Amino acid sequence: MRVVRVEGFEDWRREARALLAAEVRPEQVSFQPSEASQDSLFEEDGPSAAMGETQTARITVPRGFLDLAETVALHREERRWDLLYRVLWRVNHSERHLLAVDVDEDVRELLLMEKAVRRDIHKMHAFVRFRKVADEEGERYVAWHRPDHRIVFAVGPWFARRFGAMRWSILTPDGSVHWDTRELTHGPPVTQSEAPQGDDMEELWRSYYASIFNPARVKVKAMKAEMPVRHWATLPEADIIPQLLQQASQREVQMRETQKTSAAPFVPGDHRLEVLAPAVQRCQGCELYQFATQAVFGEGARQALVMFVGEQPGDVEDVKGRPFVGPAGKVLDEALAEAGIDRREVYVTNAVKHFKFEERGKRRIHKTPRGVEVAACKPWLEAEMDAVQPKLIVALGATAAVSLMGRDFRITRDRGVFFPHPRAEALLATVHPSYLLRLPDPQQKAEEYVKFVEDLRLVAERVRELGVAR
Ligand code: URA
Ligand code: SF4
Repeated sequence: MRVVRVEGFEDWRREARALLAAEVRPEQVSFQPSEASQDSLFEEDGPSAAMGETQTARITVPRGFLDLAETVALHREERRWDLLYRVLWRVNHSERHLLAVDVDEDVRELLLMEKAVRRDIHKMHAFVRFRKVADEEGERYVAWHRPDHRIVFAVGPWFARRFGAMRWSILTPDGSVHWDTRELTHGPPVTQSEAPQGDDMEELWRSYYASIFNPARVKVKAMKAEMPVRHWATLPEADIIPQLLQQASQREVQMRETQKTSAAPFVPGDHRLEVLAPAVQRCQGCELYQFATQAVFGEGARQALVMFVGEQPGDVEDVKGRPFVGPAGKVLDEALAEAGIDRREVYVTNAVKHFKFEERGKRRIHKTPRGVEVAACKPWLEAEMDAVQPKLIVALGATAAVSLMGRDFRITRDRGVFFPHPRAEALLATVHPSYLLRLPDPQQKAEEYVKFVEDLRLVAERVRELGVAR
């Protein structure tokens, strides 16, 4: 049996490629954590050796496998590496479509691991609580967290986007991440196994801070086995957690029973906006919650006459947590002003509350939500319409129009006309402001913009009539 030491995903990937090329069967190899890994987990340098790069063997890596593997790599179970290698081996030895066979034991286990890691990431997003401490450089927000899996470095960029303007540190038993408003850095783990209480955080930070600068820093202990304490048991909200947990498991059962992708189990019965808005952050009605920074709920006048419905938050909205505050929002604002509509008097929301995107390098490219996602998110939109009770609804673009009017609706054919709608006196659809932004030809862009404003003028007129009739 060959023992291969790996520290992280890149390591595994490189080794796996070399082993595959050398036709080493999964039974002949055992991946184990490198001796150093307990300690060097937090070091920033990746492994440097380039073995395997020179191999020319053809290796099949199915679509989606690398993403899956990268996520599974964060799982705490050591056997994940062997499992990943076994699956990669099988795919390359006459089981090309193995990943689609979800009754296969190996595939099933991989998918379960992936799910566990994604859950843990979501939990970390939702439950990390920062406490303000003073340090040499000023204010810093420090949090202690005990993730179930080795996700601490993977979540760093998410927190950097979400809390970009403040200096913060998240300390965990696996390592720490720090943000200085510009750069993410990794640091050593915090060995204490209990969450600090209240002012202890200040204390913890001070000793941690001191330790970073102590060259004779003690060897970090092995962290493996000790995960008995649920990490959030000590949060200020601890009181409500059993309840949340119970609700969550009920929801799961409910979701599994109906086998449906839907926000419905997450939407509170109380449809007041101040109840809905915080609740949407816990929605797991479709897959999209896993990747976005946060849900973006609607906002605006609580009893608005008009509700505007876009598609989904964009990159800027995802970070700021507010609808239509990026480039498309700017176009919308201008057009509204031109049409004589005050944005502060309307309510603005989206058909889908989580940003769907594809990562290209550092950029996140908008991806149109699928029908199932739009349908899954509809209960939030219904609840918002219930809360605001608008007289007019304006659908911006096809996604919103289809969500509100059904699949036969065509913007090109049906725009600029008032239709009856069960939730309002009328609904009008028009193009999405992003569509205008995407038009390459300036002439056409200008013409389309004028048409867009014309549609909005129809809305403004109708609002005036309604206002008078009120
Ligand atoms: N596009 C949308 O549809 N909604 C937003 O909030 C931003 C861009
Ligand atoms: Fe829930 Fe909608 Fe987000 Fe899907 S997109 S998780 S349904 S809020």
